[in-house]
Amino acid sequence: VEKWFMKHKLLDGKALSNELMSSLSDTVKLRVSLGKSAPCLAIIMVGNVEASRVYVKNKIVACKNSGVHNVLYDLPEQTSTKELLNLIKELNFNESISGIIVQLPLPKWIDTDLVIKAISAYKDVDGFHPYNLGRLIQRIPLLRPCTPYGIIQLLKAYKINLKGKNSVIVGASNIVGRPMAIELLNNGSTVTVCHRFTQNLKELVKQAELLVVAVGKPQFVKGSWLKKDAIVIDVGINRLENGSIVGDVDFSEAVEIAQYITPVPGGVGPMTIAALLQNTLLAQSLLEETL
Ligand code: GUN
Repeated sequence: VEKWFMKHKLLDGKALSNELMSSLSDTVKLRVSLGKSAPCLAIIMVGNVEASRVYVKNKIVACKNSGVHNVLYDLPEQTSTKELLNLIKELNFNESISGIIVQLPLPKWIDTDLVIKAISAYKDVDGFHPYNLGRLIQRIPLLRPCTPYGIIQLLKAYKINLKGKNSVIVGASNIVGRPMAIELLNNGSTVTVCHRFTQNLKELVKQAELLVVAVGKPQFVKGSWLKKDAIVIDVGINRLENGSIVGDVDFSEAVEIAQYITPVPGGVGPMTIAALLQNTLLAQSLLEETL
């Protein structure tokens, strides 16, 4: 009985991702049957960050499962900004490439902002280019950052009403926290963003009807911090010394208090990847408009 009840609390990102991927796969097949080309994602990885290798591997598996082609550029740690920019320029012009991602973080001597800006805004399937972020903030989104886009789709699939919701985001990164704030605002939510200088974090989290946590600290948010029946979105993927993977929220505590919660793994992660492939398909159609 306990397990059955728990299941109903889970926001099952893995299941929704599987559905979205299967629909993407149908779309790609249909395109190919009409003589159009399959989308192709270029993935650039620099150096040997262990976590990045795992994420990139997962992205490649997702491409294969959905019929999206991929090309991997696995560059050495000592790659210069110049070399990276030259590769991006080439891929921007290459008509067989629909989308480009540069896996982050980059080695510290590479200027990440310069690299992101160099990717054609229409091939920017991570949605990190200033053009795409500008469009999101003006409520005319084009390519949207994958994690926030995936989370919004997960919330909508569970018919969670965002209008007027008191939403709190913990973590203000360019990749998750900031675009998440804009996505929630665009959906009529009242948004508070907490970060390392926030003074009354626990107080603010206690107010949250919807809580999004993206801080990269294992089990940082405790069950006792939560408002009863909060909806909890855990973006964290942390590996403990014993090898197990946990989120930024203490799941076993939080699941007792929350109305809904995303598991880790199997919550936000798979949705991020589905959103990446959706963006790649959109980028392919943008490419065709210009050919
Ligand atoms: N590193 C952590 N998250 C992401 C992401 O969404 N995209 C890329 N390219 N790198 C990341």
